[in-house]
Amino acid sequence: MVTGGASGIGAAIADRLRADGLQVATLDLNAGEEKFCYTADVTDRAAVDAALEDIRAELGPVTVLVNAAGLDRFKRFSDLTFDEWQKVIDVNLNGTFHCIQAVLPDMVEAGWGRIVNISSSSTHSGQPFMAPYVAAKSAVNGLTKSLALEYGPQGITVNAVPPGFIDTPMLRKAEQRGFLGDTAKQIEATPVRRMGRPEDIAAACSFFISDDASYITGQILGVNGGRNT
Ligand code: NAI
Repeated sequence: MVTGGASGIGAAIADRLRADGLQVATLDLNAGEEKFCYTADVTDRAAVDAALEDIRAELGPVTVLVNAAGLDRFKRFSDLTFDEWQKVIDVNLNGTFHCIQAVLPDMVEAGWGRIVNISSSSTHSGQPFMAPYVAAKSAVNGLTKSLALEYGPQGITVNAVPPGFIDTPMLRKAEQRGFLGDTAKQIEATPVRRMGRPEDIAAACSFFISDDASYITGQILGVNGGRNT
């Protein structure tokens, strides 16, 4: 199951995992175009549980979970309302909590599972005007490390991929609103001299899910062209 699978990075991950031969369900606020696209708000546990019932009925137990649903917000910290703070924490952190907790019983029962959390390269560097986002994504990295220790004995690996500067609708919206600065300058500041592609993140997820990565858990693998490492 890939959350946020209707757009950008989540959609690329879903495509890649399908190409790898997995049966993939996506969970998103918006309907996707492929088979097995479910709509639910990841912050609404009852909705997540209901979607999972349908997914299990159609595809069986969920043993792979990629948490890519996310929401950014740009505002000076002193101007943030608590509701705005909470909304960003809710989607990026609490949504991850709900989805992981809801699928873990399937993984424990199977004695095998793979969880990949999409955090953000901003957790390495910090980012002005994105305090709740960076706080939530940093917590996702911490959650990743703790769950890796807790569920390793059950055959479940838990890793995180913090993307940096990936060409998606989220990034383009930020650019249009003037929060990204000059894209050409950003590319110049990126050691590999290009923007990231959603497929770059999908490739890292595919690796973490593969048998080749069965001895890798609790890791935070930056996919960022050398930015913010
Ligand atoms: P995007 O905006 O293209 O896709 C995000 C998807 O999450 C959308 O389909 C949206 O409907 C879904 N979503 C949002 N809130 C939801 C909710 N409450 N319940 C269910 N689905 C929800 O963004 P993008 O760039 O593909 O982001 C994917 C992930 O990567 C996010 O977690 C984002 O924070 C993270 N990320 C992206 C970076 C980039 O450069 N694009 C950099 C760092 C992190």
